[in-house]
Amino acid sequence: MSKVALITGAAQGIGRAIATKLAEDGFDIAIADLPFQEEVAAETIAAVEAAGHRAIFIGLNVADKANFDAAVDEAAEKLGGFDVLVNNAGIAQVKPVLEVTQEDLEKIYPINVYSVFYGIQAAARKFDELGVKGKIVNAASIAAIQGFPILGTYSTTKFAVRGLTQVAAQELAPKGHTVNAYAPGIVGTGMWELIDEELSKINGKPKGQNFKEQISGIALGRTSEPRDVAGVVSFLASENSDYVTGQVILVDGGMLYN
Ligand SMILES: NC(=O)c1ccc[n+]([C@@H]2O[C@H](COP(=O)([O-])OP(=O)(O)OC[C@H]3O[C@@H](n4cnc5c(N)ncnc54)[C@H](O)[C@@H]3O)[C@@H](O)[C@H]2O)c1
Repeated sequence: MSKVALITGAAQGIGRAIATKLAEDGFDIAIADLPFQEEVAAETIAAVEAAGHRAIFIGLNVADKANFDAAVDEAAEKLGGFDVLVNNAGIAQVKPVLEVTQEDLEKIYPINVYSVFYGIQAAARKFDELGVKGKIVNAASIAAIQGFPILGTYSTTKFAVRGLTQVAAQELAPKGHTVNAYAPGIVGTGMWELIDEELSKINGKPKGQNFKEQISGIALGRTSEPRDVAGVVSFLASENSDYVTGQVILVDGGMLYN
């Protein structure tokens, strides 16, 4: 029987690469994303199936606790187990601190932070119900380690994810569950398209220029592909990381050093 992983935000981007990699590692996959993303998720489903594993799409809003509980129940029921949760879904906002509105904060915190509480709660409940020593892997960021200008809302949500990863790791350790996080650098996905576009509005540089300019700050001399991140999540979801918990692992090609 294959192990089961639920990955939020897996219709596209880093989540899709994680789903593909975990399928190659032997997992059946629940792709949990906003309902309107079901068509886009067909490509992730095809990649998982090409790796010889089962994939289902579950429509959910990670900012809704009841939704999250139901998604975990559905994944466990339809795929016959529950071993790994990847709290990958997240959004960015690009604005100077002095311009951030109450609406901005009320939008981003539920998606980037509350969702990680809800995911940890739902997964731990299911692991215990099934008698599984589970693994929870959260999406942090380089912006969880260092604050970046005009990413104040985003950076603070990712600092919160890092803190929560450390707390939950200690609280869930007695039950044998691990909680870790991956901290990507500059990954070419829809998220960076948005950041690039917003930066262009601020500094007038042509489309794509702000993204390209990031390379000068990366020791390995290139921006990241989603699969670079998936390799580290694969480790954190596997038995190779059984003695690792509460850690945030930078996957940034050499941008920050800790
Ligand atoms: N792209 C980067 O450079 C980068 C760097 C550091 C960290 N990250 C983090 O990696 C994760 C994935 O980012 P990505 O670059 O693949 O972004 P992306 O925008 O390409 O994909 C994000 C996915 O999350 C889904 N999503 C958004 N809100 C949701 C909600 N409320 N409920 C359910 N699903 C929702 C979207 O539909 C989408 O499929 C995010 O947490 C992001 O903060 C990305």
